[in-house]
Amino acid sequence: ISRALSSSTVRNAAIKHVTVIGGGLMGSGIAQIAAATGHSVVLVDMSEDILKKSTKGIEGSVRRVVKKKFADKPEVSTDAASVVQSTDLVVEAIVENLKVKQSLFSSLDKVAPGHTIFASNTSSIPIADIAVSTTRLDRFGGIHFFNPVPMMKLVEVIQAPETSQETFNALLDFTKALGKHPVSCKDTPGFIVNRLLIPYLMEAVRLHERGHGSKEDIDVAMKLGAGYPMGPFELLDYVGLDTSKFIIDGWYQMEPESPLFSPSPLLNKLVSEGKLGKKSGEGFYKYK
Ligand code: 3HC
Repeated sequence: ISRALSSSTVRNAAIKHVTVIGGGLMGSGIAQIAAATGHSVVLVDMSEDILKKSTKGIEGSVRRVVKKKFADKPEVSTDAASVVQSTDLVVEAIVENLKVKQSLFSSLDKVAPGHTIFASNTSSIPIADIAVSTTRLDRFGGIHFFNPVPMMKLVEVIQAPETSQETFNALLDFTKALGKHPVSCKDTPGFIVNRLLIPYLMEAVRLHERGHGSKEDIDVAMKLGAGYPMGPFELLDYVGLDTSKFIIDGWYQMEPESPLFSPSPLLNKLVSEGKLGKKSGEGFYKYK
């Protein structure tokens, strides 16, 4: 029933066909919930191997959700150019690197239909800086999801200075059709959540680096003393230490004098050792 209801919402919506580019944690989650709410979805990444991993992740997650409601699975493809020819919305969730995002959007801009809206799920890069790689600044915005995407209710919808009101409204409607709760954000570093969350997570690492608390004690303290579902080290491992480092390094470059954005030697060391958190089997903690 929930599927039939959401499908009729989608039938009348501007965004019906969605292309998600990037089969990582975020991209798979976005593709999963878009498919589950009656959108026609294709998930694109560069190799069959990555897509196999994404499909496995989605199947695992769908099994957890399926107890609660019926869920469809997205199709997968390695050919972004052919897929976007019939899409209403492209959601990009690839590596947090401006040059790579610009080059992806610049090539998609040449093949996607005029009406197609482009949106980035960037966590820290200004939307306007990515949008300049295209000729559709008015049809370019941000939609920022949170891990785990099937569970977290919030989506930040970002209106850059050139994003049209029509595009912004279509993105707001799309997030509602996904069953999410949108908040409106300006195109400022970290929008709302990450601007508050990342400095907090980094300060937990610095506190530990100063020898003022063990990881375990800091995690327990924030869970039992502040009601957070995960402690800061658990959350950093969950989000990915590479992603966290990309974010903080980018902001440090923009504002090197801000103590909130200063890099952490411990975080840098773990990333250089390939300890990227839960997804690589080890970060601050070890995982089976
Ligand atoms: N897919 C589907 N369902 C899931 C899921 C997933 N990936 N993860 C959890 N669930 C659901 C399942 O129904 C699960 O029940 P099950 O175990 O019987 O299948 C239920 O949630 C409970 O899960 P758990 O018992 O594993 O654990 P919790 O009760 O602690 O909930 C959590 C897990 C929702 C992840 C919770 O710990 C939490 O809210 N953590 C904080 C997450 C957070 O802060 N995210 C934001 C990160 S910042 C970000 O993403 C932005 C980026 O730009 C960096």
